[in-house]
Amino acid sequence: MSESITPLRALTLFAVVTVFSPAARSQEPVSFRTDVLPILEERCFDCHQATRTDARGRTKKHKGGLRLDGNAWILRGGDGGDVVVAGKPDDSPLLTRAELDEDDPDHMPDRGDPLTVAQLEVIRRWIASGASFGDWTGAPLDASAASVPVAQAGATVPAGARAARLLALADGLAPLSEAERKALGEAGAHVEDLLGDRRLFRIGFPGRQASIDDAALRVLDRVKEHVVELDLARTPIDDSALDSLARLPRLSRLDLSDTRISAAGLRKLTRAASLRTLVLVGTTLHEDAVGVLAGMPHLETVHLWRSGLGDGELAALRDASPQLRVVGPPSLPPPEAPSAGRDGPRRRR
Ligand code: HEC
Repeated sequence: MSESITPLRALTLFAVVTVFSPAARSQEPVSFRTDVLPILEERCFDCHQATRTDARGRTKKHKGGLRLDGNAWILRGGDGGDVVVAGKPDDSPLLTRAELDEDDPDHMPDRGDPLTVAQLEVIRRWIASGASFGDWTGAPLDASAASVPVAQAGATVPAGARAARLLALADGLAPLSEAERKALGEAGAHVEDLLGDRRLFRIGFPGRQASIDDAALRVLDRVKEHVVELDLARTPIDDSALDSLARLPRLSRLDLSDTRISAAGLRKLTRAASLRTLVLVGTTLHEDAVGVLAGMPHLETVHLWRSGLGDGELAALRDASPQLRVVGPPSLPPPEAPSAGRDGPRRRR
């Protein structure tokens, strides 16, 4: 028999859920494992997990090319490309699809009630705060992840491309031992397992940036085959650290924002064998950096906002290296210059 829910009981339930669920209190950090995962498990996994056979022997394949049952799968995205863009909830289909009007054909979940406002808020805050999976990995990627689906209009990165690249990097690499993995944690590193099988990692030092120096970075030497993404933003490191970073054979993305590195230091990174993305926001580079960056063999994207380089230097870099994506300051709407009015240059027709 179904229990009748009186309005008072409903109100109490609502109060309990909203007041006592830790993540519902906006100051509490959101944990993927305790706050987000249960929502996905309950409402999304049915259609977005590994192919399986149901009770009647029918094969159920994940929908939209999207699996949500592993961190690497979530990062891989679906047929339409990325589903989570860290820091940008409004660009993350994992959330925006669930926020759509229930009548919208793209609304998720595809069946049953929409997510509650509290659930949407948890997912929003998780993405806004960086979409970290903490120690959760879930199902590891397998070879099927590398098939590049036909990207739908509007997709920025074909979903399979990142996975294919990671799998190629990991080829032939044995998993990191549990002891080394622990040593990283003890050194204060925040470690994310990118494939879910302890082969490739994203490493950062959130909250401990101020104490990261060359000595602290020595822990990376012990795991150097496994470092793919490294966040050293706002650490006091300088050019001397870059020798050892250049020797990380799989380092693909390096964030040196708000550090004291110079063009001379960057030159050492020319030897980095896999470096594709370099974030240099908030540095004090000067024009020498243009030639150095143009000479980096595998570099695909460089972020140079507030880097000391002006428009002229960014243009010179784009000229010198046309295939390089040079990300400058966000483009602002054109200023309402006084010349835009009557006194301005006449528009030719
Ligand atoms: C009953 C099955 C079902 C459930 C449950 C479900 N989905 Fe989906 N999902 C689909 C189908 C079918 C598609 C592909 C068609 C489409 O894109 O609308 C899809 C596609 C998606 C996509 C787009 C993937 C891409 O790259 O094209 C996202 C994002 C998504 N779902 C998120 C979710 C989230 C988040 C949940 C849980 C809150 C969820 N889905 C629950 C069936 C489901």
